[in-house]
Amino acid sequence: MKISYDPALPITDRHDDIAAAMRDHQVVVVAGETGSGKTTQLPKIAYELGRRAIAHTQPRRIAARSVAKRIADECEVDLGAEVGYAVRFDDQTSEATAIRLVTDGLLLAELQRDRRLSRYDTVIIDEAHERSLSIDFLLGYLKQLLPRRPDLKVVITSATIDVERFAEMFDAPVIEVSGRTYPVEIRYRPPAETGADDELDAIAQAVSELPTEGDILVFLSGEREIRDATDHLNGKKYPRTEILPLYGRLAAADQQKIFSSHPGRRIVLATNVAETSLTVPGIRYVIDPGLARISRFSQRLKVQRLPIEPISQASASQRAGRCGRVADGICIRLYSEEDHDSRPEFTDPEIQRTNLASVLLQMASLDLGDIKDFPFLDPPDSRAVSDGLNLLYELGALDTKKGGRALTKIGRRMSTLPTDPRLARMLLAADQLGCLGDVLVIVSAMSIQDPRERPLEHQQAADEMHRRFREPDSDFLSYLTLWKYIREMRDELSSSAFRRLCRDEFLHWLRIREWQDVHAQLRRTAKELGLKPGALGADPDRVHQALLSGLLSHVGLRDTDGREYLGARQAKFMIFPGSGLAKKPPRMVMVAELVETGRLWGRTAAKIQPEWAEEVGAHLVNHVYSEPHWSRRRGAVMAREKVLLFGIPLIADRLVQYGKID
Ligand code: CDP
Ligand code: MG
Repeated sequence: MKISYDPALPITDRHDDIAAAMRDHQVVVVAGETGSGKTTQLPKIAYELGRRAIAHTQPRRIAARSVAKRIADECEVDLGAEVGYAVRFDDQTSEATAIRLVTDGLLLAELQRDRRLSRYDTVIIDEAHERSLSIDFLLGYLKQLLPRRPDLKVVITSATIDVERFAEMFDAPVIEVSGRTYPVEIRYRPPAETGADDELDAIAQAVSELPTEGDILVFLSGEREIRDATDHLNGKKYPRTEILPLYGRLAAADQQKIFSSHPGRRIVLATNVAETSLTVPGIRYVIDPGLARISRFSQRLKVQRLPIEPISQASASQRAGRCGRVADGICIRLYSEEDHDSRPEFTDPEIQRTNLASVLLQMASLDLGDIKDFPFLDPPDSRAVSDGLNLLYELGALDTKKGGRALTKIGRRMSTLPTDPRLARMLLAADQLGCLGDVLVIVSAMSIQDPRERPLEHQQAADEMHRRFREPDSDFLSYLTLWKYIREMRDELSSSAFRRLCRDEFLHWLRIREWQDVHAQLRRTAKELGLKPGALGADPDRVHQALLSGLLSHVGLRDTDGREYLGARQAKFMIFPGSGLAKKPPRMVMVAELVETGRLWGRTAAKIQPEWAEEVGAHLVNHVYSEPHWSRRRGAVMAREKVLLFGIPLIADRLVQYGKID
């Protein structure tokens, strides 16, 4: 391996200090502006110090690949030899590999097999400021592991955001790499002032405002937005201008294009990946709509969502900084200065946005012990922890007999599914009941916002249109009916005719696309995990039993004379008026969500049989017996039995043989 350093990179000035700190300390924090050389140069410094088993983590696959390629090129070795990368489904490493680029998620998964990380002598946690759940986990894990692995060296790198926190956590020195940056002029262009019709128009206007020389970087919230913007800007036929997309799922060769030299001007349309993890060279101007997809747990929907949200001030300044690296830059923000100033300073760490049931599930699958004792940088709230544990008991993921922390077989499988635990439980039950095809469609629908629109001024017309999809006893089945209809129409109609149909029939076209995307992705993952999706059209009772396994605390029993339901733990709810069951509420229901708006409403409901709840919730129900008596006719001791689920009488009065009861 050829080890040399580019004198133009800011990190080169601090090479000796970094090497010395790594020799003297077990953990070193390196902070610096993006583009200063942390990612590409630190592993070389570690190599120079004789380290030969270096794990170098990246938040995204695209970065793991491209960084490995870059380091291999710099060191004049083949990719996959001394320098390689491993991401899910793609391992480009060999016996010779000393610098191994991995995603932080992959390193976390490796812990399952190698608790002491014994295959590594050095771990570089790159981009720690991103504070994803994986990063927070790894940091906490390393904190516990380091005393038992005195030979292991750790380097933590971060953009210049909140660096002291990492240093305090590990009692580690901080080395600041000062980037050479030029001034960036910030211009605010909110649509209210420019009159832009939409984001695409606003971007095009910003492009025309900028000089025709010099590359532009535009931040967009996702692949789809990038594709739309590519079409839109190509339509403008800018002279001598090349439009390049940059996002995670792009083919490796296309990703590599952004690093190649080129004549004329370039407009790079990128996701957040270009904010800190990949440095697009030669950028003079940035256009920032100020949005990003941020993963959040929705209390209301009980699912992990990826809504598009305003970015934090720290993110905005990282984005602006991308154009001050070669000369003076201009950053055009497509929002107002007041908007900017009212935004949060930092993005909150993922652990505070995420459903703790899923965190706890992962921790249990790693045998990490009690979450209270785990050294998280930002420990989660204790009430949120007990809510999370209760939900896991309910779903049968934790074995109450083994001290309540051991995962059951089902819990272990749930931990491998990338959905909210309730939904994961449904998918596993559906696989066993042979109705996974149907349940995948329903679960995907529950992961997005309802694609049926009900605009205030056209409520009646919308209801009439949607009535066609209604199923009398189950709102879940109406998702299936709608799904089949959409499938048929898509096959029959041109895409513009389909769009029109959606508009005329009060269906949200974008959400329908999202529904199909989520479905395809979940189906793929389910198959990878050995589940068998199968075709649609299973017995509806089975579909409902599968759904019920994830909704046991969302069961309700109606008063014989009223419309109100008695729910778990004495909650009282009514079926939401939009439901197909609202007119004729059945005696017992399950609902997908309980929403509080003045009173408690159950949304997306289905009629269920009490016996299903008794069977599916066998680990939760209480049996109460009374009046034991000798029955001469049966020749046995008989008693009256009552079966309760979270206080709801599933079976009010049943005669059973007392002798059989233990
Ligand atoms: O990690 P940090 O942001 O501090 O910098 P880096 O990613 O190591 O990037 C250092 C320099 O290498 C930048 O100027 C990048 O543009 C360049 N680079 C590149 O040309 N090709 C890559 N695949 C990666 C980095
Ligand atoms: Mg970096």
